Amino acid sequence: MTRRGDDYALCLLWLLLLVVACEAQDLEQKPRIINGSIARADETKHLVSIRLKRHDNNFGSGHICGGALIAPNKVLTAAHCLYNNQRKRYRQPSEFVVVLGTLNRFERHNGTIVSPVSSMAYMHTFSPDSMRDDVGILFLRTGLPDGGGHLSVAPIQLAGQVTPPGRVCQVAGWGRTERSSLSNILLTANVSTIRHQTCRMIYKTGLLPGMMCAGRLQGGTDSCQGDSGGPLVHEGRVVGVVSWGYGCAEPGLPGVYVDVQYYRQWIEERSSSASSYLRRMPSALVIAMIMMCRCL
Ligand code: ARG
Repeated sequence: MTRRGDDYALCLLWLLLLVVACEAQDLEQKPRIINGSIARADETKHLVSIRLKRHDNNFGSGHICGGALIAPNKVLTAAHCLYNNQRKRYRQPSEFVVVLGTLNRFERHNGTIVSPVSSMAYMHTFSPDSMRDDVGILFLRTGLPDGGGHLSVAPIQLAGQVTPPGRVCQVAGWGRTERSSLSNILLTANVSTIRHQTCRMIYKTGLLPGMMCAGRLQGGTDSCQGDSGGPLVHEGRVVGVVSWGYGCAEPGLPGVYVDVQYYRQWIEERSSSASSYLRRMPSALVIAMIMMCRCL
């Protein structure tokens, strides 16, 4: 080979090396519960996987959303998780199955509870277009057994006060990762609460009352598709519910969460349909029914 040919080959080699190096760096910087770590079972006992029964023949493959157990048979989630966007209607409780107490969504062990849904509640003002009032509740038929002390499942409390901006929170779920598919293992990430005014400058009129932002303004860490409905936790209490975002983990575009504080009363007042039905029944009617039963 001539001297010129040698130079040419060397140049080509350098170029190739440069391209490989750039690609590797690019891969590393791709947003990744994006940029999460594997969740600890003892810190995520309240996390549930909400699934579509007809897609869950292969246990785990029906996962659509996360949720948080907030009472032995009450799961807080997002209203959009209960809504069938193609059919433009809410799903039936019988379409869901809820799985509690497993880190790997494909695994079912001693501590795992698999529960049908007996009824559900959502804010009737929820709009799939604006994501206004994206809050919903599922009532489980087989919730947490009485007596407590369950090894892998425990309810979590709602936060009692507004969380100020800049507080580090945890968000967890089986949602999309940097590899763009759902995660098999429950992942968790730290994200910070962002001032409403700051987020309003980002999402403009898209940010409605009852919504709050959390993430990292430099990007890289976020919740993503499939994490919806899951809780945002600060100091061991639920402060938010994963709702939406523009892409995932993009710089300057944080995740948007349902502000639990804003909806606290609504959330706490919901109880399973049977008991709310009784509550709404005029007391005179209840007394009459009791008297009738006694006469029989
Ligand atoms: N809507 C998504 C879901 O249904 C959640 C998106 C959250 N996005 C974000 N950038 N934090 O799972």
